This record gives sequence, C-alpha cells and structure tokens, in this order.
Amino acid sequence: MAMQKNLTADDTWFFGHPKGMVTLFFTEMWERMSYYGMRALLVLYMTGAVTGFNPGLGWSETDAQAIYGIYVGMVYFMVIPGGWLADNIFGHQKAVLIGAIIIALGHITLALPLTETFFLGLGLVVLGTGLLKGNISTIVGRLYKEGDERIQAGYTIFYMSINIGSALGFLIVSYLGEKIGWHWGFGAAGVGMIFGVMQYIYFKRLLGGAANEPNAMPESQRNNYIKWSKITAAAMVVVIGLGLFGIISFEPKVFAEYFTVFLTIVAFIYFSYLFIFAGLSKTEKRNLFLLLVLFVGAVAFWSGFDQSGSSLSLFAKEFTDLNILGYVIPIGWLQLANPIFVVIFAPIFAGMWMQLGRLNLDPSLPIKFAIGLFFMALSFMVMIYAVQLAMEVTTVGIQWLLITYLLQTWGELALSPIGLSAFSKYAPKKYIGQMFGLWFLASAIGGVLSGLLGGDALVDGLESISPVFEFMIDYYVLLGIILIVVGAFFAFFDSYSDLQDKVKKLEKRISTLLKSN
Ligand code: PHE
Repeated sequence: MAMQKNLTADDTWFFGHPKGMVTLFFTEMWERMSYYGMRALLVLYMTGAVTGFNPGLGWSETDAQAIYGIYVGMVYFMVIPGGWLADNIFGHQKAVLIGAIIIALGHITLALPLTETFFLGLGLVVLGTGLLKGNISTIVGRLYKEGDERIQAGYTIFYMSINIGSALGFLIVSYLGEKIGWHWGFGAAGVGMIFGVMQYIYFKRLLGGAANEPNAMPESQRNNYIKWSKITAAAMVVVIGLGLFGIISFEPKVFAEYFTVFLTIVAFIYFSYLFIFAGLSKTEKRNLFLLLVLFVGAVAFWSGFDQSGSSLSLFAKEFTDLNILGYVIPIGWLQLANPIFVVIFAPIFAGMWMQLGRLNLDPSLPIKFAIGLFFMALSFMVMIYAVQLAMEVTTVGIQWLLITYLLQTWGELALSPIGLSAFSKYAPKKYIGQMFGLWFLASAIGGVLSGLLGGDALVDGLESISPVFEFMIDYYVLLGIILIVVGAFFAFFDSYSDLQDKVKKLEKRISTLLKSN
C-alpha cells in the first residue's frame, strides 16, 4: 500500500467534498473531452475517401474498425501497467501529470497533417491514458478517509466530469474534424488536453498528499523496477518505430483477434491465480466467482457500448439522414445523446435505487448487471428495426440512433457506476488495489470486441448487420439470465447461511436455558 496521507474529513470546500475534487474533476473532464472527441473521429477519418473535401485515409471499414478496437483495448489495458508504475515508481499524482502530458503530445501528433505519424499519435494517447485514467480514479478514493461515506457521492461527481468532458468532445472535436478538417479536430482534442495539463499543474497542490507517494520499498528494489521499466519502454519504442517505418506490418483484424485472445488469457490467469494460489477462504472464493460472472457481463456490455464509435457511427454516416432544419449535423453529434442522457438520468437512477432500497427491493449487483445487458439487447433490437427500415427507404431518421443510445445509457447507469464499487466490495481484501485494473481489463476486452463485431456487421453493407446484432442480442439475453440465476443463488445462499446462524444461536440459548433449569 502506498503511504496514505489523506486530507481531513472536514474538508468540504467543493460542494461538501474535498477541494482536491476540483483538480480531478477538471483534469478528467479535459482528458475525456480529448479521448471521446478523437474516438468519434477515428473510424470516420480512417474510412474517409482519399479525395475531395477533407480527405481521409480510405481504409476498409473492417480494417478501420479493427484498428479502432485495438486502440480502445490498448487504452484500457494500459491502465494495468500504468497503475503498477504509479504504485511502485511515480506515485499517482506524478503518474497523472506525466500521462496528461503524453496524451496532449499524442493529440498534437495526430493534428499534424501527415499519415506517417498517425500510429505514433495513437500510441502516445494509449500510453498517456494508461498512466492517467486508472490512477486519477485511485486519487479520487484517496481524497477521503477510510469509512468516509461521501466517497460514493464523490465518484458520482467524478462520473459527471467524465460525461461533461465527453459531451464537449463530441460537440467541438466532431464539428471541427468533420466540417473543417480531420486534423483540426485532432488539434482541438490536443488543445483541450493542454488546458487539462495546465489546470492540473496549477491546482495539483489542492490534492495535498493524497496518493502522492509510491509504495515504500528498499532503494535497490526500486532501482531494479526502474531499470526494467526503462528496458520495456525502449522495447516498445523499437516496436513502434519498426511499425512506423513499415518494417513490421500487421493485418488489423488478425491482430485484433490475437489481442482479444491475449487479453482473455491475462484475465484467465489472473482469476485462476486468485482461485487456486491466493489461499482464499470459502466466502472469498464465492465472492470471486461472483466477480468473474460480473466481469464477463461487463465485457459483453462494453462490446456493444463501444460500437457507438465504430459500426453505429458508420451507420449514422451511410444510412441516416443527418439534416436537421436544413443543417447537416456532424455525425459525432449523435453520440452527444449518451453524456446528455447520463446527466439527466443518473440522479433518477440513484433515486430509484434508494427508493427501492427503502422497500427492501434494491436489486442485487448481478441483477443490476443483468438489467444493463437487457437494455443493451433492447438497444440492438431497435437497431435491427432501423436496419430493416433503411433497406426500404435508404436513409432513416436520427431518432433510431437516439433511442438506441438512450437504451444503452440506461444500461450503462445500471452497470457502470456501481461496477467499480462492486469490484472493491467483493475483491479478496489483499487484492483490492488491483481491482481497478481488473475492471478496466473488462473494458479493454469489450473494446477490442466492439471493433471486431462492428467490422463483421458492416462487411457487406446493410445485409450483414442484422445477423451480427442478432448474435449479440442472444448473448446479452443469455448472460442476463445467467446473472439472474447467479444472483438468485447467492441470495438463497445468503439467507440460508443467515438462517443457519440464527438456528445456531437459538440452539445455544435453548441449551443454556436447559442447563440453568
Ligand atoms: N464513460 C465511461 C468512461 O469513459 C465509460 C467507462 C467505464 C470506461 C468504465 C472504462 C471503464 O470512463
């Protein structure tokens, strides 16, 4: 554990929350602005025609979506080494700073009107986000003393900053990228991130000592870690360099498939290690099994959710009428639906869970995850309808995508904000520090799958979409049912052991009563 110098519990400067929240709020806001803004342009830029106004790269939709998936997968996978570097070498506050600077450099690189530096730019954003995204979430938790009840609300505020940021990104970056020029959009993401860096440097002092120090360890061990980190970084630079000069090349779809397998093996090894070698108690094993099921649910969820930047974006471009009162809106603006609906519905969902809680009907975690998956299934049913309509009338109205995003947002609200706390609640105590990594690993696998599934969906224009979406609906429903069964089993198990406890107590009382008589 890193040395935990928390701010005082009576720090209520920011709407009743520690003042360090200001720093984290705006850093995350600008980071998500740049991330989601750029993510909205990525597939459109790669598939854009090479001639005409605003020329793109002219790559196939399958390749572009596979690269998109690899990119999203890498971003979230890198959270794991990013967390390790913060824990052992930098401390979280410095890791966030370095990450933010690298992200800004990445977007600036993408802003250069050069094709050659495209992957370099993406690579920098990947590495920077790996250092920033998980570690900033850790600092949020460390602003509060252990047992401080405000922490949950703190994460809700943080979730708002994510969505305000992504809304700004879709609005500004999509407009500039699609209407003025791709590299203007990438540049705007870079400018946003520079604001993020500047405000972080300026307001970092508000964080106090929260998660500032890396783990205590002998100097020789730290030096050893630093040496190996440098060797790994150098190896990565060599591989990226070889890729940039075209000495090694890859088939995007095949690479994405291998990457999915690799990430799945990582998850498999991690869970197996915990099950077999971590010396867990029976209850801990049972909780770990629950986490495993939630993990699979989260992977499935993100594999649909992240298609907003791939297949659904292409559907918007090719088969949707974007003309509103004579103005053709940027394609990325449709994705504004997600953050706007999050801001509107997050309080409603929170209120609903509380109300249900009062009636003792608050759904358990697996049930909430199942609800998330069912909403995802519904959203793709709407898309299948829209696809059928598009076959008859060539372009459909924007309402179908908006309804799709509304349903997905409801799903997100049932699953995502509680996902992380679920992982820390049910993690074996000793391994709590790594739960962020595991949570993001689910997003990583979901991200690559979203690129692969999106690629399959559009391989043959409209014709190929429905079978892929139908397949997805099947697995959402199936997993949803599994989650409900697991939830019911756990509820039964809990009340059964509750009952056993009560029976034991009763037996004790009876025997003492009998004795005293
Ligand atoms: N909108 C969320 C975010 O960008 C989605 C997400 C949740 C991503 C969990 C990764 C992990 O943070």
